[in-house]
Amino acid sequence: MDLFQLKTPLVESMRQTIRARGPQSFAWFMQQALYHPEHGYYSSGRCAIGRKGDYFTNVSVGPLFGQLLAAQFSEIWKRLGKINDFVIVEQGAHHGQFAQDVLKFAQKRLPQFFEVLHYRIIEPFPILQERQHQTLKGFGDRVEWGESPEPFAGVHFSNELLDAMPVRLISNGREKFVGLNGDNFVFVERPVDNAILNQSALDWIDEIAANLQRGYVIAIDYGCTDEDFQRSVQVRAGHRNLHSPFDAIGEADITMSFNWKSIVERAQANRLRVAGFTDQHHFLTGIISEMGRGGSPETTSGNYGQLPLPDSPKAKRELRTLLHPEMLGRTFQVLALAKNMRPEVPQLAGFKFAREPRFG
Ligand SMILES: C[S@@+](CC[C@H](N)C(=O)[O-])C[C@H]1O[C@@H](n2cnc3c(N)ncnc32)[C@H](O)[C@@H]1O
Repeated sequence: MDLFQLKTPLVESMRQTIRARGPQSFAWFMQQALYHPEHGYYSSGRCAIGRKGDYFTNVSVGPLFGQLLAAQFSEIWKRLGKINDFVIVEQGAHHGQFAQDVLKFAQKRLPQFFEVLHYRIIEPFPILQERQHQTLKGFGDRVEWGESPEPFAGVHFSNELLDAMPVRLISNGREKFVGLNGDNFVFVERPVDNAILNQSALDWIDEIAANLQRGYVIAIDYGCTDEDFQRSVQVRAGHRNLHSPFDAIGEADITMSFNWKSIVERAQANRLRVAGFTDQHHFLTGIISEMGRGGSPETTSGNYGQLPLPDSPKAKRELRTLLHPEMLGRTFQVLALAKNMRPEVPQLAGFKFAREPRFG
């Protein structure tokens, strides 16, 4: 651990709060470390994703991920009856790369869809909004920004948003709080009654459900479906896993795998319906199988017409990374929730190879 980091303004202000108010929940700790308005890992703009950064995501692998999702969004647009104002709402857009990949591909390969497409980014942090503006300046008023989703018809999309949301650490009726031993952050355990682990994620789905008039929510993330899953905090910096969330506070990413079941139950309580759930490997394979390949179009079931997959060696490498079970293919799951849509016959392309979803 770098001793310098122990004296950052963020760490000092966290110590002050704990000294004044006593041990705080891990959700508070994550909120400060990642989203403190000035000094948080994300809110300060310090977060770097990709080869030269702290970790990879699907988006940082290359444009293919956004291109495949654009094809899926265009199928959804068709299922909505090719409406005139189709909105993609993205949350957790980082520097706007995914939005750029989707918009570029739609402009080039899906012109009818592009005509009616609006992209709305929900970004609470000014520095990230600025970077998104830079990345997306070529798309003019097609892209808009907001602090919360306004009513829309279309798709809400997120990649690795849920696992970055603050959570409490509770198991067997006991909660781990963050306290201090001298200047060192330490866990302190106490019994608890209220066992809501992921209030932020539940609030998130409430807000989307209240604003989605018709369409889908597609969330890609690192979660579990097993009731007894092991909750583990992951701390990542410079492509290494750090031992403790108390190392490099505000300089490292902190994520927590979560149980999809709690999201699904809350979504259902908000009258959203599960339209599909599968791992990323099957999801992307489903989309590809409907697209036609490599410039030599196959006859598809008609959803995209004859849309060739990009065929360069680079695109092939990207595809392998996204699909391979030992790379990203099995790491991530994809959940689709539907509102005011008829049950899917056939399934959305991405869920063509999915099994019946089960949430433990
Ligand atoms: C792990 S990063 C993923 C970035 C990007 N989606 C990707 O796949 O490369 C998580 C992102 O979610 C953002 N985020 C967290 N909570 C958010 C919220 N409530 N609204 C919007 N963005 C949020 C963070 O600022 C961060 O940019």
